[in-house]
Amino acid sequence: MIPMNVVILAAGQGKRMRSAQPKVLHPLAGKAMLAHVLDAARAAAGAVAHICVVYGHGGETVRAALACADITWVKQEPQLGTGHAVLQALPHLDPACRTLILYGDVPLTRVATLARLIAASTDDALALLTVRLDDAHGYGRIVRGKDGAILRIVEEKDADEAERAINEVNTGILVAPTGRLAAWLPTLGQGNAQGEYYLTDIVALAVAEGLAVRSVHPIDAWEVEGVNSKSQLADLERVYQVGHAAQLMEQGVQLADPARIDVRGELVCGRDVFIDINCLFEGRVVLGDNVTIGANCVLKDSQVGAGSHIQPFSHFDQAVLGDDCRIGPYARLRPGTDLGRDVHIGNFVEVKNSTIADHSKANHLSYVGDSTVGTRVNIGAGTITCNYDGANKHRTVIGDDAFIGSDTQLVAPVTVGRGATLGAGTTLTSNAPPDSLTISRAKQVTIPGWKRPVKTK
Ligand code: UD1
Ligand code: CA
Repeated sequence: MIPMNVVILAAGQGKRMRSAQPKVLHPLAGKAMLAHVLDAARAAAGAVAHICVVYGHGGETVRAALACADITWVKQEPQLGTGHAVLQALPHLDPACRTLILYGDVPLTRVATLARLIAASTDDALALLTVRLDDAHGYGRIVRGKDGAILRIVEEKDADEAERAINEVNTGILVAPTGRLAAWLPTLGQGNAQGEYYLTDIVALAVAEGLAVRSVHPIDAWEVEGVNSKSQLADLERVYQVGHAAQLMEQGVQLADPARIDVRGELVCGRDVFIDINCLFEGRVVLGDNVTIGANCVLKDSQVGAGSHIQPFSHFDQAVLGDDCRIGPYARLRPGTDLGRDVHIGNFVEVKNSTIADHSKANHLSYVGDSTVGTRVNIGAGTITCNYDGANKHRTVIGDDAFIGSDTQLVAPVTVGRGATLGAGTTLTSNAPPDSLTISRAKQVTIPGWKRPVKTK
């Protein structure tokens, strides 16, 4: 495979986003638009000789956000049009390779479509990605001769009535032989309605030199849709999510409603996974075989073992779960949660930076932080590990088969021995020995004949 140059145009300001953030950094499915374009370019081009991103006003943040060794950043200032933009990148391109031109604000072009476009290009042929639209308003139109061959592109503002009636439009994405591009770009003029250097003018130049101009079309129009506003970004987000949901179902994942799942990253599922409505997956989430996820769960960078059931409204961030766990509803597993097999974490239980071994349970209203919990431990309702003294965090260690009575506070650092029992309401400030009952509780007394106070008149 011959290496390609890739030029991504991203100098436009994106005023209609009405945001302080540069347009191409706005996330689609949790990833900057420009990052989608970069990934697609790398995947389609196979071997990439050079990637050049042309950025403009405010672009330093783009550069900082997406810095990567294989990218050359080229500043275009002022912005005098798409032809001028590519001209800025020219000195960085390998003249022996062809150049793929992409837009940083067109995030969802299929890799296969770009691969077809690259395949249609040669050292003596220009390949244009074009599409027929019901409403071609605003786009450059593809002007073809009587024989159907492409002659040139005319911008809407320069077009006459007949040309405006053409519904085949320029997507802006194309592949050109770089040597030719280098010859054409400096000859472009600004004698047009917008006073800009139009990249699109290279088409007529190619035709005049006898080069073939080929066209390739996307499968779906959304592949070439650009984002200029938040509403257009939301539309493409839906396109992405619906497509991703369809892929999951093809792989055998059962979705209660494919319109009500959002994946912002990578979701890897085993066999017979069921996901109920309104779940959000972020980062990399791995679900084992036969996992079920209840409605309204948020899982980020987590791993769930086979056969585990996650009940509604549970929230995971950097948690690792073994097989056959029962979690939720309303459970919160924070970074560093590492659960063994058949662990039960119930409603309003928060776990952070803790290991809980096989068959242990914390079913109600607890906080388990900075703890190492053994196997078959029962943590009663309302138990709190007091891991933070206001300055430092300390660990709590609970041995196998311990029974922690309800409403207990474990003031770390503290250790509960194997098989120990803590009586309900204990405030544990020193270690509890194994196989014994430890209890800190004022003795219960009853005062016979005691009378309630009565209101004085
Ligand atoms: C351009 C095409 C038009 C096509 C349309 C598709 C030209 C002259 N026209 O139109 O045929 O139908 O795209 O959307 O090429 N950019 C720069 N520097 C500049 C100008 C633009 O980097 O000086 C970048 C923008 O950030 C954007 C892309 O180029 O990513 C296209 O710019 P835009 O202004 O949207 O294109 P149009 O001129 O409307
Ligand atoms: Ca545009």
